[in-house]
Amino acid sequence: MPNNIGARKLAMAFTIRLLLFSSLFLLPVSVFAQTNGGIAVGDFLTATAANSSPWLSPSGDFAFGFFPLGSNDLFLLSIWYAKIPDRTIVWNADRDNEAAVAPKGSTVNLTANSGLVLRSPQGEELWKSETSVGVVANGVMNDTGNFVLQDRNSESLWETFNNPTDTMLPGQTLERSGKLSSRQSETNYSKGRFQLLLQEDGNLVLSTINLPTNFANEPYYATDTTSGTVAGSEGKELVFNVSGYLYVLRENGGKYNLAVGEVVSARDNYIRATLNFDGIFAQYYHPKNFTGNVSWTLRWSEPDDICQRNREDSGVGVCGYNSICTLKDKRPTCGCPKGFSLLDPNDPYRGCKPDFIQGCEEDELSRTNDLYDVEVLTNTVWPTSDYVRLYPFTAEKCNESCFQDCLCSVAVFRDETCWKKKLPLSNGRVDVSLNSEAFFKVRKDNTTLQFSPMPNPDDKKKKCSNTLIPVESVILATSIFVSFMFSAAVCLGFFFIFRKKQVRSIKNMLDSNLCSFSYRELQEATNGFKEELGRGAFGVVYKGTIKIGSGVQVAVKKLNCVIQDGEKEFKTELSVIGKTHHKNLVCLVGYCDEGQHRLLVYEFLSNGTLASFLFADTKPSWTQRIEIACGVAKGLLYLHEECSTQVIHCDIKPQNILLDDYYTARISDFGLAKLLMMNQSHTHTAIRGTKGYVAPEWFRNMPITAKVDVYSFGVVLLEIICCRRSVDVDNSREERAILTDWVYDCYRGGMLDAVLVLDNEVQALDDRMKPEKLVMIAIWCIQDDPSLRPTMRKVVQMLEGVVEVHVPPCPSPYTTRTG
Ligand SMILES: *[C@@H]1O[C@H](CO)[C@@H](O)[C@H](O)[C@H]1NC(C)=O
Ligand SMILES: *[C@@H]1O[C@H](CO)[C@@H](O)[C@H](O)[C@H]1NC(C)=O
Ligand SMILES: *[C@@H]1O[C@H](CO)[C@@H](O)[C@H](O)[C@H]1NC(C)=O
Repeated sequence: MPNNIGARKLAMAFTIRLLLFSSLFLLPVSVFAQTNGGIAVGDFLTATAANSSPWLSPSGDFAFGFFPLGSNDLFLLSIWYAKIPDRTIVWNADRDNEAAVAPKGSTVNLTANSGLVLRSPQGEELWKSETSVGVVANGVMNDTGNFVLQDRNSESLWETFNNPTDTMLPGQTLERSGKLSSRQSETNYSKGRFQLLLQEDGNLVLSTINLPTNFANEPYYATDTTSGTVAGSEGKELVFNVSGYLYVLRENGGKYNLAVGEVVSARDNYIRATLNFDGIFAQYYHPKNFTGNVSWTLRWSEPDDICQRNREDSGVGVCGYNSICTLKDKRPTCGCPKGFSLLDPNDPYRGCKPDFIQGCEEDELSRTNDLYDVEVLTNTVWPTSDYVRLYPFTAEKCNESCFQDCLCSVAVFRDETCWKKKLPLSNGRVDVSLNSEAFFKVRKDNTTLQFSPMPNPDDKKKKCSNTLIPVESVILATSIFVSFMFSAAVCLGFFFIFRKKQVRSIKNMLDSNLCSFSYRELQEATNGFKEELGRGAFGVVYKGTIKIGSGVQVAVKKLNCVIQDGEKEFKTELSVIGKTHHKNLVCLVGYCDEGQHRLLVYEFLSNGTLASFLFADTKPSWTQRIEIACGVAKGLLYLHEECSTQVIHCDIKPQNILLDDYYTARISDFGLAKLLMMNQSHTHTAIRGTKGYVAPEWFRNMPITAKVDVYSFGVVLLEIICCRRSVDVDNSREERAILTDWVYDCYRGGMLDAVLVLDNEVQALDDRMKPEKLVMIAIWCIQDDPSLRPTMRKVVQMLEGVVEVHVPPCPSPYTTRTG
């Protein structure tokens, strides 16, 4: 692995050199291309490698045009120093925080009404300058590095100096609420995690922002140029004057100098102030006349120690989670503790991930107690993320306490105090002045579980929904949100309206959001139980309309097994169900409990059951099916682990999974198994569930745990993958009758194509959602031995690509199998 990374680095370094060389080669062409700095309306530039002659300033110092990004024939519309070989961009076009990267053949036109317009070769508008008023007469690439659009009277309509990216040049000012944004990395010009902002109160601050929003964390550097006690001392603007001085000009004319010390001549040097991608705001200079290999010299930078930001509210820190920041020449360098590796091997600033799984459940599942080694790191601290503080304590006891505690990942000891911390750790840094010790629990290699983290760091960690193409995923995200809000609104709406209406019967209300209906009310709502929606193990479901406003559609389930003298238990169970709220669960809005009448009132879902959707003649698309599988998994995870009382469904099957307006999967009938089993003994003699979906422990007198749902989920997942029922007795070929057996045989025989129902989309998907991987997950779920089945949490993690999926064993090794 280290060799691998080394090789990649070498290759990268080589590529960069090659690029430097080729851009050097292109330079002379550029210099003579155009020299008066004035550009007329109608002029345009085309992005091509061979003759990308930019618009130059009169002196030839600055160039505006397409800067080759080096790979894939991509170009960045930008301004750069035309006479020096360093690839130093001082401004670039930026849209919605993404650098406006243009493919080969794109053009930028100077137009009278819209200013600069950047279009792809297909004519799609990629970016334009926002000239809201006036008609553009011409453009000027000024010697100061400012590109200006002017009207007939040479009044400026738009200039790059007023729309800065990460760099300021002499002559440029930043007004209040003006800001610079860092880029993602040295070579990625999209908006990064840091910003320099002149606040409305006059304070100039550096802070991290939480992408993709602009939410700024507490500043890690500030000039404190606010009005304070002296009126008029607040900052008015940040000035980089033409002599190269950088200061905050106060309202009263006073100056707060940022860069102190010797000033270099602005006539003989290029000077710039840049907010670097690692959060350092720095001033650099470069001689205008030079021979040989000269590069930028640092003149000044802030903050002094960016690693030392130890406030909870200042964000994750420059190096990302779980990493260690060390200062080298005033710049941060990032590393990972032992047992951790970089999330993104090409970007050390993205943070680190553990190479092992740690958690209470995992610890318990392991049959040995000797799971961890302890790594001791001296003078390394993570100032936040602690959950317990022990004092007075000794270092030895601190180490021991963390070692025994399955929640603890690292303990930091200093001055008789022990801080126990859990992942992820933030703002880690080395600080010799602290005299501290950090005890790190690192899992021993040979005891890792069957689900070890991904060995291939190139795999991106993405959520299920990200597998869709962007437009679709936006729609989907919106629709999920809308449907979630809708169901929340329905639930709450019922709650409030009925609370008002039924003040007298308020004591009937359960300790939840459920409302109590009379039998008559439901009889009316369902028009005398007329329209049947479906029949299940627990009763018949009818469609109804509750008269609230223009009427709300509901599904009313008449429970057919009446529980004797179970009044209290019925309510207890109902209140458990009533407290569940998850976008992948059907919302229970109320109930009726009148003598022998026990009814449940659910929200009505328009798109029917997964069964009718899946087994229809036209097969749903792969992405849609996977989305549904993820939804079911998340709903189950919620029932198992995230609601206040664990709910085991016991009857997961496509008939119990409903689809709302947006085809979001919603599990129904949960909580009922327990509700209707109450008077039975807990040895589970009576099997709950449906043939083809029930786990073997039901037949084997084994304890029933949440793992029975995992089994059923595995079967449903296979049905989703194959668009086929789990049991198909009509199938002419006997070996295909039982889906689980058939899939495993095909999987083992490397003939999955025989079972999969795929569409064209699948080829375009990334590795994570590959059908084979999903089959493997399903096979893990249908293991006969419940302890081999993953938890739903792990299933979700596997579906999301957070943990690797290993080759599953044969699901039923002790039974004779068909085929
Ligand atoms: C460049 O900008 C400076 C300062 O704004 C101005 O004085 C000068 O005339 C501009 N040069 C051109 C060519 O427009
Ligand atoms: C730059 O980073 C952004 C965000 O991480 C990413 O979406 C984009 O693809 C990157 N651009 C390039 C050219 O690598
Ligand atoms: C730039 O600022 C410095 C320091 O305030 C001042 O001495 C100098 O005269 C300024 N230069 C110009 C051209 O205004």
